[in-house]
Amino acid sequence: MEEKRQRLVISLSALCLAVAVMSGFDYYVLALQWPGTVCRQTSHCCSSNGCCRSHPLKFFTIHGLWPQYSYGGWPSCCRPTTFDGNKVAANHPSYLQNGILISRLKTILEEYWPSLYCGSFSTCFGGKRPFWVHEWETHGTCGYPEIQDEYDYFSTALYLYSKYNVTKALKKAHIYPRGGRKYLVGHIVSAIEFSFGAMPSIVCKNGSVQELRLCFHKDYQPRDCLVEGENSVRRNHCPRYVTLPSYKPHAFGNSTEGISNQVNVEHQSYQ
Ligand SMILES: *[C@@H]1O[C@H](CO)[C@@H](O)[C@H](O)[C@H]1NC(C)=O
Ligand SMILES: *[C@@H]1O[C@H](CO)[C@@H](O)[C@H](O)[C@H]1NC(C)=O
Ligand SMILES: *[C@@H]1O[C@H](CO)[C@@H](O)[C@H](O)[C@H]1NC(C)=O
Repeated sequence: MEEKRQRLVISLSALCLAVAVMSGFDYYVLALQWPGTVCRQTSHCCSSNGCCRSHPLKFFTIHGLWPQYSYGGWPSCCRPTTFDGNKVAANHPSYLQNGILISRLKTILEEYWPSLYCGSFSTCFGGKRPFWVHEWETHGTCGYPEIQDEYDYFSTALYLYSKYNVTKALKKAHIYPRGGRKYLVGHIVSAIEFSFGAMPSIVCKNGSVQELRLCFHKDYQPRDCLVEGENSVRRNHCPRYVTLPSYKPHAFGNSTEGISNQVNVEHQSYQ
């Protein structure tokens, strides 16, 4: 009897440990992308691509809010759930008036969280959906229990994005998008650190800033982004001097053809 109970206790604690490991993450990364750099790679236009709007995007847009492990790496596709806009509304009825929440949220997401590619994004269970649905399924589902559902995910990301406005912080430090103008990477990093009190990480492509990433504790207070080894996490592929390019959307033409397979392949590995 006693032995049986002990076994039960042991298996229960093993279960709890497994659940804790499964749902546990240590901090968040809010990844923001610079359209001027991403959109330079655009060769074909389509209506779903934020790079193709008649006015260029002049601020950092959201890539995603990512739960992370402090020892490196990050969980993905944590719950067998597919995105359901109606579920968001059902769980937050006070926000819903005749579907206004969903359409308003969508408008806001399309403004600040646009896809910068043509084609749709692979989701965890084989679907093809908009960019932010891909982000919710891949990363958002791993934020449980802090992030309960789709509504929590999008509203938390948008809250952090507007509270910690990197475009504004850089402007304050006189760092503007300007063709060809070079900025010291350390100057960009310290401008963000000065404004928010924590060290960001930065990702570059071809000598330009592609992403700025802000890190947050689980209580949404800013924290330093992790340094793995050298500066590999903080300064991925960044030379000492970098540009913050602007771009001209009309230069791309307006072809809806030629959305190559390459785009979808790229999305499959797109974080
Ligand atoms: C961030 O700041 C920029 C520049 O001041 C501004 O244009 C933009 O609307 C701000 N973004 C948000 C989400 O408040
Ligand atoms: C890389 O940067 C150089 C210099 O700014 C530019 O001329 C070139 O077009 C860029 N290449 C790509 C693939 O963006
Ligand atoms: C492409 O065509 C669509 C529809 O004809 C138009 O709304 C959009 O502004 C055009 N985009 C560019 C960059 O010319």
